[in-house]
Amino acid sequence: MDFPAELKRLVARVELGLDQLVPAATTRPARLHEAMRYSLQAGGKRLRPVLVLAAHELHAAARMRNPGSAPREPRVPDPLPAAVAVECLHTYSLIHDDLPCMDNDDLRRGRPTAHRQFDEATALLAGDALLTHAFALLAEAYAPDPALAHALIRELAEAAGSRRLIGGQMADLLAEKQARATDDDLEFIHLNKTAAMIEAALVMGGLTGGADAPSLATLRRIGRHLGLAFQIVDDILDATADSATLGKTAGKDAKADKTTFVKLHGLADSRRLAREHSDTARATIADLPGDREFLLALVDSMAARSN
Ligand code: IPE
Ligand code: IPE
Ligand code: MG
Ligand code: MG
Ligand code: MG
Repeated sequence: MDFPAELKRLVARVELGLDQLVPAATTRPARLHEAMRYSLQAGGKRLRPVLVLAAHELHAAARMRNPGSAPREPRVPDPLPAAVAVECLHTYSLIHDDLPCMDNDDLRRGRPTAHRQFDEATALLAGDALLTHAFALLAEAYAPDPALAHALIRELAEAAGSRRLIGGQMADLLAEKQARATDDDLEFIHLNKTAAMIEAALVMGGLTGGADAPSLATLRRIGRHLGLAFQIVDDILDATADSATLGKTAGKDAKADKTTFVKLHGLADSRRLAREHSDTARATIADLPGDREFLLALVDSMAARSN
């Protein structure tokens, strides 16, 4: 398998989907839709939507080879709306994460943050609109299969809700300047602000691809470890990389005195812990059916990334 070519193929599919499945920039009020598209089109690694497509392809291909195993579904659904919904939700979380009342960041995906490029109210509303659009897209695109639509909406709602992403973001803010934050606090923050959406992306791809319950549980476990590794690397990069490479402001975590892996464990141990979670993710991928090469390479590329 040619990993860079395969990744490029999936990212291109996501970019096309984003263009087609989000209201045009000219939609009234244009300023709002321009801001939504500004943040979506600024680039980004597209990890989460690529995970949706990759998990889908793995299971859909396995099911094609063994059609008797899933008699209820004659047609494999298109995973692209689910992938786009996940990226809309992720991008909303970034727009709000950057607001002055949260992390107060000026740079995102190599460009001024939404509230810098537009204004705070527009950024807030663009985030609200992307969050809502994610669920509208799932309800609309999967209406022909109500059980699938329900499962996808439920999965995304749980991952994005107060017990997971939002809870993680709240805990992240509460843990600023806390000298007594514990490993348990840190794990809660990372598991929820970051791993929840990575788990949901894999599970949603499994759902559209027709994965069975054991495979969905495996996907969730992979997401948990990949998500933890991903956020530990994010903490390491914040402390070690430069803003131009990151496309976002470096050194912000130490400045805000965030509770991060680097703060609690130092760089060397953080690197070791990231490696351990990546290794567990890789080992768990072995429990999935079908051709797992792409997912394994994706885990490696995220562990070795520079932004
Ligand atoms: C940034 O996510 C927020 C975190 C959870 C660390 P990404 O590093 O995936 O950001 P983009 O989507 O590539 O810009
Ligand atoms: C943000 O974590 C995670 C979410 C947006 C939910 P960070 O605050 O560490 O993300 P960056 O470093 O700004 O991308
Ligand atoms: Mg933050
Ligand atoms: Mg931030
Ligand atoms: Mg960060």
